[in-house]
Amino acid sequence: GLPTRIRIHEVGARDGLQNEQVAVGTEVKAEFVHRLAEAGLTTIEATSFVHPKWVPQLADAEQLLPLLSGLPVELPVLVPNERGLDRALALGATRVAVFASATESFAKANLNRTVDESLAMFHPVVERAKADGVHVRGYLSMCFGDPWEGAVPVPQVVRVCRALIDMGCDELSLGDTIGVATPGHVRALLTALGEQGVPTSSLGVHFHDTYGQALANTLAALEHGVTTVDASAGGLGGCPFAKSATGNLATEDLVWMLRGLGIDTGVDLGRLTATSVWMADRLGRPSPSRTVRALSHQ
Ligand code: HMG
Ligand code: MG
Repeated sequence: GLPTRIRIHEVGARDGLQNEQVAVGTEVKAEFVHRLAEAGLTTIEATSFVHPKWVPQLADAEQLLPLLSGLPVELPVLVPNERGLDRALALGATRVAVFASATESFAKANLNRTVDESLAMFHPVVERAKADGVHVRGYLSMCFGDPWEGAVPVPQVVRVCRALIDMGCDELSLGDTIGVATPGHVRALLTALGEQGVPTSSLGVHFHDTYGQALANTLAALEHGVTTVDASAGGLGGCPFAKSATGNLATEDLVWMLRGLGIDTGVDLGRLTATSVWMADRLGRPSPSRTVRALSHQ
């Protein structure tokens, strides 16, 4: 059967805004996160402590986090290296995420490193974070397809997942960064990870809706026992370092499906939709989420 409760890992403020053309001010980002929390989301990825030249949209991480203090939610942040971890810890972060790639092409484009060099870069980050009692998520991008390399072999993905778990990551997020996965491929990867001893309870899924498969893929993962699902309010985002990546699975689309399945998320769909409509106005483009459009008559 399906899980009775799902944890939504909201990525709109980070994965969403990092890729928007319109620069969003720090105050607007803070209001966005506050509104997401008021809509009932409990894990809201806030920003990234990466090099500001690589992701100028998130260069205000130091200014943003203090505006979120006191919110009764988890606010994970991305850190690629020890410099990023230092910046995050200085602001009191209690959850961080490193981000690996299953493919060499994307590791180079996103981190200026080979896959193994990036794992070596993460090693001290994870070790120090764990020693400080900080929760560590390990993202893995390009788990299904890569814009330069095409289909990604399952064993190649499993190898990097194992490395991240062995390093001490508390959870993984399996990313379909360019949105080419289909449910059979999702089942094959989850089955292979199970066979390699990676517990399903440590897995989250991160789908993009490029080919309209994000919800179908999510359902396949739920049927496999996955209970953590990444989604982005209004379907914001893509990835600036991966051509042909469109928006993440929209949180509203996910909540609509889960509600229909009787799975509790604690999210107020009306409030969330209103937040995405508000953000769409700030960004000057309508939300790509079908559920947002249906519920807001856009
Ligand atoms: P590099 O150029 O190789 O950096 O970039 P470096 O280690 O050689 O250092 C060069 C300079 O950068 C140094 O300064 C460092 O101090 C500085 P200098 O001594 O020359 O003055 N530096 C930093 N400054 C601020 N914060 C830092 C930092 N690190 C070094 N953390 C680096 C390597 C990893 C820094 C760079 O490639 C980078 O920032 N990459 C981040 C890219 C990114 O954020 N991508 C998006 C996230 S991944 C994603 O979106 C996919 C995901 O959403 C899943 C999915 O959708 O599938 C997770
Ligand atoms: Mg994404």
